[in-house]
Amino acid sequence: MTAQLIDGNQLSKQLRTEVATRAQALKAKGITPGLAVVLVGDNPASQVYVRNKVKACEDSGLHSVLEKYEATLSEIDLLARVEALNNDPAIHGILVQLPLPDHIDAQKVIEAISPAKDVDGFHIASAGALMTGMPGFWPCTPYGCMKMLESIGYDLKGKHAVVIGRSNIVGKPMALMLLQKDATVTICHSRTLDLKAQTLQADVIVAAVGKRDVLTADMVKPGAVVLDVGMNRNDEGKLCGDVDFAGVKEVAGYITPVPGGVGPMTITMLLVNTLEAAERAAI
Ligand code: GUN
Repeated sequence: MTAQLIDGNQLSKQLRTEVATRAQALKAKGITPGLAVVLVGDNPASQVYVRNKVKACEDSGLHSVLEKYEATLSEIDLLARVEALNNDPAIHGILVQLPLPDHIDAQKVIEAISPAKDVDGFHIASAGALMTGMPGFWPCTPYGCMKMLESIGYDLKGKHAVVIGRSNIVGKPMALMLLQKDATVTICHSRTLDLKAQTLQADVIVAAVGKRDVLTADMVKPGAVVLDVGMNRNDEGKLCGDVDFAGVKEVAGYITPVPGGVGPMTITMLLVNTLEAAERAAI
């Protein structure tokens, strides 16, 4: 069997068109949804990510501000910037790009962002809202994965979902979102004794480890849905995910490619969250 691709670029295009339409409706009421992106230091990967985020805002008719600071910026000064953005009515979403320099406590900065503007969904109030099923912002990458499952009309009720990875940004929120849709969820991680025994039981597998070939064809039940959150480089320097795509696509029912899968969905859901923040502020 050859799996069907879930095309993150195509789905993103569709969702971003909806974002642009909703942004236009808000603008007609005199509100332009605004995102502030804060970058501290000169991490090359972060520079690319923030540029893509700002460009995506512009393309969808959202206002965006990019604030760049030297790596020497103090924690106190960064906290003061976050507070100013919390109080800026033109800004509906605040994203502080991670990682931050070592002398800054990232969690402290995240907790300083107003939960109403926490479009990354990293604040403990957002995490708590997700856990309890209350309204709040969902972290963009797992949220994008849920949209991908929705796009293929996948009913998670009673299905077994295996999440590989337990980060606060992807693995843990992913598991909670799948649970909220009535899946039976297993979280696997680096200390899991027999990963293959778990994944072979899975109807849905989300690989979010950050390591190549974590999931190979022999570990996948025929017809399973495989979502690949990984972003790695292979020996030729080409972008690849956590999944052995060539092998797994012969076994899975659906699979997301890298690049062009979950990656574009992460930015798309950031736009959705920013729009949502602006809509909530407009009520
Ligand atoms: N660094 C890598 N991914 C992300 C993200 O989604 N949000 C933030 N703030 N920083 C990141």
